[in-house]
Amino acid sequence: MEFKIKTGDLARLKTPCLILGVFDKRKLSGPAEAIDKASFGHLGNILAKGDMDGDKGRTLMLYGVPGVDAERVLLVGCGKRKELTRAVYNQAMTAAVTLLNQTRTGEALCTLAELAPEGMDPYQAVRDLATVAADLGYRYTATKAEKQPVKHPLKRMSLWVSKKHDLEAAERAVRHAAAIAAGVALARELGDLPGNICTPSYLAERAQDLASEHPRLKVEILEEADMQELGMGALLSVSRGSRQPAKLILMHYAGGKEGAKPVVLVGKGLTFDAGGISIKPAADMDEMKYDMCGGAAVIGALRAAVALELPINLVGVVPASENLPDGQANKPGDIVTSMSGQTIEILNTDAEGRLILCDSLTYVERFDPAVVIDLATLTGACVVALGKHPAGLFSGDDRLAAEVLAAGDYAGDRAWRLPLWEDYQTQLDSNFADMANIGGRDAGAITAACFLARYTKKYPWAHLDIAGIAWRSGKEKGATGRPVALLTQFLLGRSGEATR
Ligand code: BES
Ligand code: MN
Ligand code: ZN
Repeated sequence: MEFKIKTGDLARLKTPCLILGVFDKRKLSGPAEAIDKASFGHLGNILAKGDMDGDKGRTLMLYGVPGVDAERVLLVGCGKRKELTRAVYNQAMTAAVTLLNQTRTGEALCTLAELAPEGMDPYQAVRDLATVAADLGYRYTATKAEKQPVKHPLKRMSLWVSKKHDLEAAERAVRHAAAIAAGVALARELGDLPGNICTPSYLAERAQDLASEHPRLKVEILEEADMQELGMGALLSVSRGSRQPAKLILMHYAGGKEGAKPVVLVGKGLTFDAGGISIKPAADMDEMKYDMCGGAAVIGALRAAVALELPINLVGVVPASENLPDGQANKPGDIVTSMSGQTIEILNTDAEGRLILCDSLTYVERFDPAVVIDLATLTGACVVALGKHPAGLFSGDDRLAAEVLAAGDYAGDRAWRLPLWEDYQTQLDSNFADMANIGGRDAGAITAACFLARYTKKYPWAHLDIAGIAWRSGKEKGATGRPVALLTQFLLGRSGEATR
C-alpha cells in the first residue's frame, strides 16, 4: 500500500473516499464537523435519522455529499470519546479499511489521526493508522488456487493532519510504517507456510532472496558439517531426528560504522515441532508449523531495517531445524555436549528450542555484540502465565529490559517482564550432566529462560518468549508477524533514527 500525507481544507480535497470519525452518541469528530459545515449540515441530518450512532466499529458509506469534493464519505464509529483507547482507535481504522477492501474505492483519505487518544504523539497516531491499513492488505495465498481473494484492495491511503507543523513527523511515520509492514508481512507469510514447504532449507533460501535485493545485506548459511566442526552438539542432536538438514542462517547487515558493535537478533526457526520421541498430542499439532516464528520475525526485522537503511550494524541468526520422532532422534536421558562445552541431559525431547538456541547463542559471541535479543516460541508455560497479549521478556539487565519494554509499548507490540532469578536455576540440576533441558512443572517459561541464561554471560542479553503472540488459533488462525514491530522500534531507537 502506498501512503501519502495531506493537510489543508478537507472539503476541497479530491479523493474517492473521505474517512471521518463519529463518536457515541452521534457526536461528530473535528474533521467531521468541518465537513458537516461545508455540506450544509448533511452529516448532522443523516445522524439524526439514527442509522449511525457512533458505536465502535460501525460504518456508514455516504454518496453524493453536497459541498465537498470527495466522491464518497465513510463515517466510522469510534465509541465514546472519553473511552477512546489506542485499541479502539486502531479498531476504527480496521473497520474502515476492511469495508473499503470490499469496495472498488481503491484509494482513500483518512482523518482519524486527529482523534488519536491522549498520550499518543502525532507520529504514533499516523504510524498506527498506516500499520493497520497495511496489515489488512495481507492475505495468505501461496497454497490456494484462487490467488487474489481481495478483489479490489485499497492501493493508496492518504492520511490527513490538521497542523502543518506535524507534516514532517507524519511523513516519517508512514515511511517507518511501510517498512515495518513489509517486515511483518514477510514474517506472517513464512509463518503461515506449511511445514512441508517451509523447511530449514526453504527459510535459508528466503533469507538469501532478501540479500539478493539489498547490496548491504549478506547471507551466509552454515551446514550440518560446519556445525559439526563448531561442536554444536545440542543443535545437531535435534536435527538428527529429521530428514531435513538443519541450517544456521546468518544475515549480516552493515549499515553502521565499520567496527561498531552489532545488535544481534537470534530467532528460533523450528519449522515443525512434533515433540520428537516425547511426542506431542495430536490436537492442534498443525500449529507447530509456527514454531519458526522467532526466526521469521528476525528475517522480517532485517527486512524492515534494510528498507529503512538504518545506520546500524545488525546480525540476524536463525537456527533452523525440524523436531521429529525417528530412530536417530534424541531419546529421553540422552546427554549431548553443547558448543560451550556444557553438557545437557535431554529429559524431554520436546524442549528442543533451547537446544538449538544455546549453540546459536554461543556462536554469536564472535560478533562481539552490543546486545543480543533472542526470540522464540519457546514454552506453552509462557502462554499459561501471560496469555496471548504480551510476549514474555526476560533479562538480567534492567536497563536493557526497560529499553525493550519501551520499544514494545511505543510500537503497540507489547512485552511483559518475568523474573530471571538465580533461585530458579536449581530446577535444572541433573545427576548426570551439567544441566537438564527441563526444569519441572513450575515456572516453565522462567526455567527455559534460565537455561538460555547459562549461554549468554558474555554480552548484554534479553529473551522474548513469543509462544503466545506469534500466531492466532481457531477461525482466525494465522501468523501475526509479531514482534517485528517491537524489534524494528528497538532498532530505530538504537540507530538514533526514531526521531529522524
Ligand atoms: N514449541 C514449543 C512451545 C509451544 C507449545 C509454543 C505450544 C506454543 C504452543 C516448545 O518446543 C515446547 O514443546 N516446549 C515444551 C517444553 C516442556 C517440554 C518443558 C512445552 O511448552 O510444553
Ligand atoms: Mn517442543
Ligand atoms: Zn518448539
